[in-house]
This record gives sequence, C-alpha cells and structure tokens, in this order.
Amino acid sequence: MAAGETIKPRVAIYPGSFDPITNGHLDLIERGAKIFDRLIVALLRNPDKGPLFTIPEREMMLREVTKHLSNVEVDTFDGLLVDYATRRGAQVILRGIRAISDYEYELQMALMNRKLEPQLETVFMMPAEAYSYLSSRLVREIFQLGGSIKGLVPPIVEERLRHKVPR
Ligand code: PNS
Repeated sequence: MAAGETIKPRVAIYPGSFDPITNGHLDLIERGAKIFDRLIVALLRNPDKGPLFTIPEREMMLREVTKHLSNVEVDTFDGLLVDYATRRGAQVILRGIRAISDYEYELQMALMNRKLEPQLETVFMMPAEAYSYLSSRLVREIFQLGGSIKGLVPPIVEERLRHKVPR
C-alpha cells in the first residue's frame, strides 16, 4: 500500500424482504459480519407484495435478533438497490444461495445490478446446510397451517407469529 493511502472499510448490504427473518437469514448475517467491516441489513419497503408482517414489525425483529452483532446495522430502503447501496457507500451486495434452484434468479439479479452499477460486486454465501430448505414463505405457510416451526426462526419471530396468526 502506498504511503498516505487509507484502508477503506468494506461495507456490504444484505437486502431482502425478511417476512419474517429466519434462522437461515440470521446464519448468513453472522457469517457476513465476520467477513465485512460493516454489514447493513436492508429491508425492502415494498408496499405491493401483500406481506404478513408490516415494515416496522419486520424491522423490530431484525434489530432484536442482530443486536449482539456490533458491526451490523438494520435499515430500510425503497427504489433501486444499487442506488441505495451507492448512497450508503457499500461496495458489496451480499446474497445467500441455498440450492441450485436459487441460482437462476440470483444470477439474473446480480448481473442486472452489475449492469446498473458496475462498481458494486455481488457476493454469494451459503447458509449452514441445516437451513438449505428454509424460506420465509414456507415458514409463513407452515405456521398458518398449524405446523411446527421450531428451530426455523429465532424465538422472538415465533412469538410474533403467534400474536399475528391466530391458530
Ligand atoms: O428477500 P428477497 O425478496 O429475495 O429480496 C429481493 C430484493 C429485495 C433483493 C430485490 O427485490 C431488490 O433488490 N429490490 C429492490 C429493487 C431493485 O433494485 N430491483 C432490481 C433488481 S435487479
């Protein structure tokens, strides 16, 4: 490194809908927090998706389950992810890949984001094997149909689901 140059902190954005956050998301956040100097968990404020949890509810759960990670911040965004990432000074978009079935969608998004903002790099990480079949959609469905979601979401999410969905 040349004299006078400073090391720029590596900032990554981990974007998503998090409706609700699962143990798979949390696993990825914990892995990402070890690699990047700062990790911004960015919740998409997307009004037309018919979500189960409101943005404030999802944000509260994200904050609660990441409070032990000092370099992790929770934020919300709308508009293009690349614009948000640029505004936040991030160099990396972090995404999780569970199975081959995720690949096509993730590849399309990563390449489109690269076209929109070539400076931004998408980094893929794999969650622990135990979470490779886990998704927010399945958690919502299983819970709504009376199945057990034990071990799939953090305890606070299970508690909030109980309040949200009468069974
Ligand atoms: O958890 P999800 O629903 O898989 O996350 C999808 C997300 C939020 C990463 C994606 O929908 C997104 O980036 N939305 C912001 C709008 C945008 O930038 N769209 C163009 C993507 S190429």
